[in-house]
Amino acid sequence: MRKKLIAGNWKMNILPSEAGQLLDTIKNGVKNADSDVLLLMPSIDLFVALDSLRNTNVKYGAENFYCEDSGAYTGEISADMIKDVGGEYVIVGHSERRNIFGEDDVLINKKLKKALDKDLIPVLCVGEDLECREDNKVEDFIGKQIKLAFAGINKDEVKKVVVAYEPIWAIGTGKTATAEIAEAVCKFIRETIASLYDSETAEVVRILYGGSVNASTAKDLFEKPNIDGGLVGKASLSEEFIKIVCYK
Ligand code: PGA
Repeated sequence: MRKKLIAGNWKMNILPSEAGQLLDTIKNGVKNADSDVLLLMPSIDLFVALDSLRNTNVKYGAENFYCEDSGAYTGEISADMIKDVGGEYVIVGHSERRNIFGEDDVLINKKLKKALDKDLIPVLCVGEDLECREDNKVEDFIGKQIKLAFAGINKDEVKKVVVAYEPIWAIGTGKTATAEIAEAVCKFIRETIASLYDSETAEVVRILYGGSVNASTAKDLFEKPNIDGGLVGKASLSEEFIKIVCYK
């Protein structure tokens, strides 16, 4: 039985001087949660999390990193740096990284491998834009994103990955995918993993839905059999996140 995972993605919001207060609110509100709780934040906020989230049930990690160990990569941070401040997870392949910063499937595959190598749990994001959905090409597109991301990764490693289905048309738009649409794609992602590896592996992988999740849409989404929780952007910046975590 997969345990639900509710993850926040703060994006480029929350100053380090604001993070302590938000972390206090969230950690107090989710103390008795049945689900796993995770906050993914700008790397400059990680130090605040190290201090604030010690001995709590809230895990944390970064929104991005680079796939080399160290060296002349001005502006980047490494997996070891995230781990050094207690981060356990990292987002890989978010559509904002793919579309605004030009990250391609080759780089995403390298990042996935490096994260796994360093024992950092990757949250791999995949998802189509509106044109792709209207052209009925969602499965082709997402199947390809999954195959390219997982190239050269073995099944024991894949079991550690969290996948997030995040349709681009639903991110930051207030247009949550219906639970039926989200479930259909999450099921397809699980079938794709089963065809690349085997069904035992696919049954272990946690698959989240992300895209305008809020307190009123969470329950329907998270009760679907192939949706193992959510990746929450805007609603993770306030107390609404607590309601999403405690959706039951
Ligand atoms: P949103 O962002 O909840 O604000 O749509 C989700 C995400 O991009 O991870």
